[in-house]
Amino acid sequence: EMHLVYKVGIITASDKGSMGEREDLSGPAIAERLPNDYQVVCTEIVPDDRAQLAEAMRRMCDEQGCNLVLTTGGTGFAPRDVTPEATQDVIDRAVPGIAEAIRAYSMQFTSRAMLSRGTSGIRGRTLIVNLPGSPKAVRESMDAFIDVIGHGLRLLL
Ligand code: MTE
Repeated sequence: EMHLVYKVGIITASDKGSMGEREDLSGPAIAERLPNDYQVVCTEIVPDDRAQLAEAMRRMCDEQGCNLVLTTGGTGFAPRDVTPEATQDVIDRAVPGIAEAIRAYSMQFTSRAMLSRGTSGIRGRTLIVNLPGSPKAVRESMDAFIDVIGHGLRLLL
């Protein structure tokens, strides 16, 4: 069987990060947690703005040809937490099970996991998954699904 390498895009949703007022530790935490057959081809730090987040997701899906787009941040209750809404704006098909698995797995670390509104879905041939904002939450969330999604990604090729 031919060896597949999945192209990954990483979007950090952060007002302060996008203005250079805060170092992005969560985007790199995603990259660090990826298995060897996943290659990061684009990263962006975007303000917590629904239209700009949706546009960044569309670029990574439609122009960069990413197989997987992972976002971090903007999934909570603050008024500017709109990453799930931006994701809903761009997906064709919902994949609720991944977001459910992230929350269920994360509950062993903190009950506050239930406060993440993160969602997941498919745009064309790209899977998009929202992760919460902190590096710790990123690591814990990725452990919930990263070893399972390869089977789904192959079906999208
Ligand atoms: N999930 C895991 N695995 N670990 C965490 O520490 N933090 C929670 C939750 N999910 C957390 C987690 C907290 S405190 C919040 S407020 C929500 O994610 C939303 O985070 P966000 O607004 O940074 O996306």
